[in-house]
Amino acid sequence: MTTTPGRRIAAGEAPDDVLVRVDELRRRIRYHADLYYVGNTREIPDADFDSLMAELRALEQLYPSLADPTSPTRTVGAPPSVLFAAVTHDVPMMSLDNAFDLDELRAWEARAASRLDGPAGPYVCELKFDGLAISVRYEHGRLVRAATRGDGRVGEDVTHNVATIGNVPHTLGADAPEVLEVRGEVYMAISAFERLNEAREAAGEARYANPRNTAAGSLRQKDPKVTAERELSWWCYQVGMVSGGPEFRRHSETLEFLAGLDLPVNDAWLLARDLAAVEGYVRGAEQRRHDHDYETDGVVIKVDDFGRQAELGATSHHPRWAVAYKFPPEEKTTKLLAIQVSIGGKGKATPFAELEPVFVGGSTVQMATLHNEDQVKAKDVRPGDVVVVRKAGDVIPEVLRPVLSERPEGLPEWVFPEFCPCPNRSPLVREGDDAAHHCRHPQCPAQQAGGIEHFASRGAMDIEGLGEKNVRLLIREGLIADVADVYALEEADVVSLETFGPKKARNLMAGIEASKERSLARLLFGLNIRHLGGAVGEFLADAFRHLDDIVAAPTERLAEVDGVGPTIAASVRAFFDDPDNLAVVEKLRAAGVNFAGPPPAADESGAGEALPATLEGKSVVVTGTLENYSREEAAAAIAGRGGRSPGSVSGSTTAVVAGASPGASKLRGAEKLDVPVLDEAAFEHLLETGELPPKAAG
Ligand code: IVH
Repeated sequence: MTTTPGRRIAAGEAPDDVLVRVDELRRRIRYHADLYYVGNTREIPDADFDSLMAELRALEQLYPSLADPTSPTRTVGAPPSVLFAAVTHDVPMMSLDNAFDLDELRAWEARAASRLDGPAGPYVCELKFDGLAISVRYEHGRLVRAATRGDGRVGEDVTHNVATIGNVPHTLGADAPEVLEVRGEVYMAISAFERLNEAREAAGEARYANPRNTAAGSLRQKDPKVTAERELSWWCYQVGMVSGGPEFRRHSETLEFLAGLDLPVNDAWLLARDLAAVEGYVRGAEQRRHDHDYETDGVVIKVDDFGRQAELGATSHHPRWAVAYKFPPEEKTTKLLAIQVSIGGKGKATPFAELEPVFVGGSTVQMATLHNEDQVKAKDVRPGDVVVVRKAGDVIPEVLRPVLSERPEGLPEWVFPEFCPCPNRSPLVREGDDAAHHCRHPQCPAQQAGGIEHFASRGAMDIEGLGEKNVRLLIREGLIADVADVYALEEADVVSLETFGPKKARNLMAGIEASKERSLARLLFGLNIRHLGGAVGEFLADAFRHLDDIVAAPTERLAEVDGVGPTIAASVRAFFDDPDNLAVVEKLRAAGVNFAGPPPAADESGAGEALPATLEGKSVVVTGTLENYSREEAAAAIAGRGGRSPGSVSGSTTAVVAGASPGASKLRGAEKLDVPVLDEAAFEHLLETGELPPKAAG
C-alpha cells in the first residue's frame, strides 16, 4: 500500500500559530494541574482538561520539533506516587522477615539466642494486620504528618487522607511526648468493604477485589473526600521516633502507653514468656483468624526488651528482633460445577473451572483457569468433583486437586471438547508440541468477541466500559462485528440496551473517543495479530512510526526490526494481506484513530530508547507463560524501559510477574520478601506507568 497524500501533514517545523497555541495549551494545562493536584480543587470539568491535553498531545505528535521533556504531556497526570510529597522517616520503617512454619519460627529464635548468648524472650505476640503500613507523627500532641512506608526510608505524605480516618485522633491528651511517631496499619473492616461493594453494585459499578487493596487505593486518592467516604480504620503497633516523653524499656510498655493515649491498639497482643507460649498464641490466632471484622495474615513476634533489640540489630532490610509468622495460604474446598473452554482473540481454547462461589484468600472465587488439557489431566479434576482451591494474597486462584474420598462413583473424566463452542462448530486442534488447542475458523464469533475484548483491554486501546459482558451484548445486538465498528457506535444505540443507562452509555462513548489517541504500539497490539505481543508492537511502532508504513512493508523489512523474527514478520504480513483486515484499517482511519508512531528519539541507535524509562532502577522477575509476551519479549519490554529482569527474586525485586504455571520457588521468594505478584494486565500497567496498579492488583 502506498502513502495517501494529505493524510499526514508533513512533520516539519511548526508554523507560528501552532507555536503560539502549544505555548498557550502548556500554560493552561499547568495552571489547572496545579489547582487540581496541589490545591485539591478545580475550575474546569475533567473532560475539558482532558481535551486540552489531547490537543497538545496531537500537536506534539504532528510536529516532533516541539518535543520538550518538561511539557505537561510528559509530566502531568503522572501516577499518584509523585503527587504526594516525599517524606523521609526519622526512624526507618523496616519490613519483617517471614517464617512460614513453626520450624522456621524456632530457627529464628535459635539464631537470636545464639547472638545474645542466652534466650531473647520474653516476646510480644501481635496479630499481623493485612493492610497498609503508615507512620503518623504527633508534635506536642497534634497530628502533623502521616506518611506511607514507601521504600522504608522515604514514604509519601498522605496527611490529608489519613486525617479523615475515623479512629486516627487529631490530638492526643496532655501526656503526649513532644514528638511521637506512631506506626500502624490502615485497613478496611470486612463489613465496611462489603457495604462499599454493595453500594457499588447498586450503582452498576464493578466490585472491588479485596479489603487490603481497596484500603491501599483509598489512601492514595487525590481527593481526601473520597478517602473520607471509605470507612478506613487503623491499628497501632509500634513507636518510631519519640522525644520529650517517657523513656521506654520494653515494647510492651509502648503498647500500654499508646493505648493510654486513646490510640487504637488491638488488645489481642500477648506477652509470651518463651517460645512454647508463642506457639500457643500462633495456633490460637490461626484458629480464630476468621472471627474478626478485619483481615490478618499472620502473627508478628517481637523481642520485648529494647536492650536486647539493640543488641540483635537489623540486616539491611529487616530487624533481627522481630519476625512475621505467616499463616499458610488459605485453602478451601468447593464444588467444581463444570469445565468450560473460553476462546481467546487468537482462537486459543483455554479450559477453566466454573466453581461454586467460595470466599478464599480474601476474595470470592468462582472461576479459575486450568491452562490446558495437560494440566487438567495431571490434576485429574472432573466436573462434579469437590476440589481444593487456593488463593494466596494477590496470586491468581488455583484449583489444586480433587478430594478423591468425595468423588461420586463412576464420575467420568473430562475430555477436551472436539469443537469450538461457536455456531461454526469448527474443530479445536492441538498443533505440534503446543499444549494449547486452537480454533482456526476465520469467522469464529467467539474469536471475534475475544478480539474485540482484546482491542479494548487495558494493555491495548484501554476502552473503559468495554469488557467481556458488554462486548458480547453489543455483538448479540448486531451493533458491532469487528474492532472498527466500536467507533461507529452511537450513544442512542447503546443507551436503550439492558445494563446500560444514560450514565454508562455516556461513559462508554467518552472511553471510545479517548481511545482514538492511543499510541501506535497499542493499536498494533490491539489488532490481535498472531505472535504480535505488546513489546513487538512497540518495536514496530518505533521502527516505522506510521501504521501505513507497516501495512506496506515487505516481510523482509519487517523481519529486520530488532525483536521481530521471521515468524512474527510473516504473521504481520499475512494479517495485512487479508482484505478483511485492510477494510478494518480503513474504517479505523475514517474514525480518526491515531496511526502515527512516536517522534524519533534523540538517539536513534536502538528502538528501545524511544520508550519512557518507567522502570529505571527497577527489577522485575517474570515466571510462567504469559499470553502476550514470550520470555524474550517480556525481557525486552522491561529492558526497553530501563528496568532489569533477573532470573531470581531478591530483596531488591520490584515485582514478580506470574503467568500460567509459575515457578513455585519464585512465588515463595516473593511471599517471603514481601514482593508483589502481578498478573499480566498488572504487568502491562507497570510497563506503562512504572507503578504497581492499586489493585496490584485485585
Ligand atoms: S511491626 C520493624 N507489627 O507487616 C517492625 N508490623 O511484613 C515493623 N504489620 O510493614 C513492623 N501487623 O505493614 C508490625 N502487629 C504488627 C503488624 C505489622 C501488620 C505489617 C506492617 C509491616 C509488615 C511487615
